[in-house]
Amino acid sequence: MMYLLFSFFASSFAMASSLRSLVNDDSRYQKCFQLFLERSSEHQSMRDFIHNVLPDILGSIGNGKSHLNIIGVGSGAGEIDLEMLSELRLKYPEVTVDNEVVEPSGTQLQKYKALVSQKPALDYIKFSWNQMTAIEFEEHCKAKKTTKKADFIHMIQMLYYVKDPGATVNFFRSLLDKNGKLLIILVSGESGWEKLWRTYRTQLCNTEISQCVTTGDIKSLLDGQRVSYRSYELPSQMEITECFTDGDEKGELLLDFLTEVLDFSKTASPELKAGVLELLRHPDCSVESNGKVIFNNNLGVIVIDQLT
Ligand SMILES: C[S@@+](CC[C@H](N)C(=O)[O-])C[C@H]1O[C@@H](n2cnc3c(N)ncnc32)[C@H](O)[C@@H]1O
Repeated sequence: MMYLLFSFFASSFAMASSLRSLVNDDSRYQKCFQLFLERSSEHQSMRDFIHNVLPDILGSIGNGKSHLNIIGVGSGAGEIDLEMLSELRLKYPEVTVDNEVVEPSGTQLQKYKALVSQKPALDYIKFSWNQMTAIEFEEHCKAKKTTKKADFIHMIQMLYYVKDPGATVNFFRSLLDKNGKLLIILVSGESGWEKLWRTYRTQLCNTEISQCVTTGDIKSLLDGQRVSYRSYELPSQMEITECFTDGDEKGELLLDFLTEVLDFSKTASPELKAGVLELLRHPDCSVESNGKVIFNNNLGVIVIDQLT
């Protein structure tokens, strides 16, 4: 699941082919992403997890505290963050919360602020808006010699945008307080995305960032460091039927989103296009039912404890 788009990525785009990355065109990216949300159960899958599983994970972070520190990294427009904060409120009705938002997109931050202003009864939360990338936040913390510890840190669908996901995970983990939890969501190593990237990595993946990373990769990193973690699989689907109608405008937007290539249909070689389309409807990636092609958009969740 590939999203956003920053000008510095645009200027340093380095896909191993002549194709242009979707991250070069913010407005097309937003259109693609909106359509992806309409055609997928992505947000619903996250909400189910937040309401059914997250409360247990949050159960151990409070430990009698009257105040909790939260950090959201790559929070986007904040819908999912606020959903988590409301579960936290149910779990700990008496606590006050410091919520650091780390998000490089000014547009997304504005949307997040607007959402906060529409929600009643959030005055127990102090929001701190950090318009910066994860690595800038890390530098900022190091420069300030921050000693403040966090009880809950989440990075949801954002590790695709950093150069070294392992280093980013280790840094944020080092900010956790005793009993603190770091929650990561990415596409699952068992998803159709993984099959697509495994087959077409050199043609499709931007090498300046870790664009094609899955929870399978993060688990391998953690296993290599002997870090224990809990993990969950969240079933999610994306309807991609329109991709197979030549010239279909929505199909082309969805194909751009899936490949992360700007105007994939028009700019990919006929061989690449045919290969990608064939793989997308292959049983490794999708199921076909009642004339619809349903892509496996399964998500993975990883929960890590404090560094010991
Ligand atoms: C796919 S969106 C996820 C938004 C939100 N977490 C959600 O699940 O609804 C990815 C977010 O990561 C942000 N992002 C991109 N590069 C980043 C970086 N280097 N550090 C932190 N956030 C980044 C983007 O601006 C975007 O808001």
